[in-house]
Amino acid sequence: MRFQGKVAIVTGAATGIGGATALAFAKDGADVVLTDVNESALGERLKEIEATGGRGIAVVADVTQAVDARRAASKAVEAFGGIDYLVASAGIQTYGTVVDTDEDTWDRTLAVNAKGVYLAAKFCVPEMVKRGGGAIVTVASVQGLFSQPNVAAYSASKGAVIAMTRTMAIDHAGDNIRANSLCPGSVDTPLLRFAAETHSPDDPESALEEWGKLHTLGRIAQPEEMAKVALFLCSDDASFMTGAAIVADGGLTIRL
Ligand SMILES: NC(=O)c1ccc[n+]([C@@H]2O[C@H](COP(=O)([O-])OP(=O)(O)OC[C@H]3O[C@@H](n4cnc5c(N)ncnc54)[C@H](O)[C@@H]3O)[C@@H](O)[C@H]2O)c1
Repeated sequence: MRFQGKVAIVTGAATGIGGATALAFAKDGADVVLTDVNESALGERLKEIEATGGRGIAVVADVTQAVDARRAASKAVEAFGGIDYLVASAGIQTYGTVVDTDEDTWDRTLAVNAKGVYLAAKFCVPEMVKRGGGAIVTVASVQGLFSQPNVAAYSASKGAVIAMTRTMAIDHAGDNIRANSLCPGSVDTPLLRFAAETHSPDDPESALEEWGKLHTLGRIAQPEEMAKVALFLCSDDASFMTGAAIVADGGLTIRL
């Protein structure tokens, strides 16, 4: 119960890495504010938390909208008295080179993946300051550091998240707030399964298996494995870590 008496807000908390992180926070004693646009999945995730004896609230919120980000932070304060941690996990995957990425796709990708992190932090940081400090984990990607083909907008958005996180670490160190980004390899979530179905409509399972083999550990990750890293980065065990881009990729990027 590392986070007893603490309040965590998680964006993209309905499914995948955000969902696993919200559940892990609750199991570890935190009061959790789950936000997402997927109302039904968000409700299911909250029920799961409550079934394990955890405490949380669900706020349907679009990370691209300032009014929603502000409301989510206000609801956290109203329900639990403040905010100690933010894990910004909401994100979308898009494909295309700069030539074939249309402007709407570019704008939407940057809005969800980069602006969404900015807006969440904008309204959570002042609440952390009131509590005397806190921690932020932004879920970026190895694609913010290294590149695969055909992901111009996505990789740009993740590079922006890593750079923004570094800046937040510098700007708010004096407020006792640490900020780190988490850079996963492939993780078994609806987002990755969507990618596998797009890539291999006839046999997405084989695509997932193939992608797993690219990782030195020979498999893709489970979302719970990313949640553990996110919680570590929030915890006092990571007290001397800030501004870092933590690669948790099963050895995907160490191979030539
Ligand atoms: N799965 C992977 O292999 C992988 C690898 C590296 C990085 N990531 C990153 O991890 C993060 C989480 O992705 P995931 O794999 O868990 O995918 P996911 O699709 O399971 O989760 C993303 C969540 O974000 C929500 N979301 C999307 N747009 C939103 C918006 N405008 N406002 C609020 N919520 C919104 C979705 O409803 C969904 O619940 C993303 O930022 C993604 O880029 C994933």
